[in-house]
Amino acid sequence: MALITFSSRLHKDKTVYAVAGSHTQTILTLAKENHIPIDFGCGNGECGTCLVKVSSVDTKRSPMGGPLTNREAVVLKDMGYVTQPELDQMYVDDIPPTQWRLACQMVVRDEDILVEYPSK
Ligand code: FES
Repeated sequence: MALITFSSRLHKDKTVYAVAGSHTQTILTLAKENHIPIDFGCGNGECGTCLVKVSSVDTKRSPMGGPLTNREAVVLKDMGYVTQPELDQMYVDDIPPTQWRLACQMVVRDEDILVEYPSK
């Protein structure tokens, strides 16, 4: 079971459990379920409103993260948070090239992470 800590300078930190291995639960879904006020718009990886910064804080397991979804890659590149060479390398290494993620696209894995929001 993974621990997800949501942190914001505007709100009190909150740590919640994520269902390990479901591969369906996004950061945004988890935030909504736990009444954590991450801004979002489309909910579909198109607007970039749900931008968050994700760091591995797991002391027991290696960082996993998971590569960006295709929608994340397009939006984060358009927003200037990742470059094409970094994306090209991501497809080789299979690890995310940036800490910046879209909460509506990043699926929670069996890894303890820190999610910082709002992102600006
Ligand atoms: Fe629009 Fe996540 S809510 S990209």
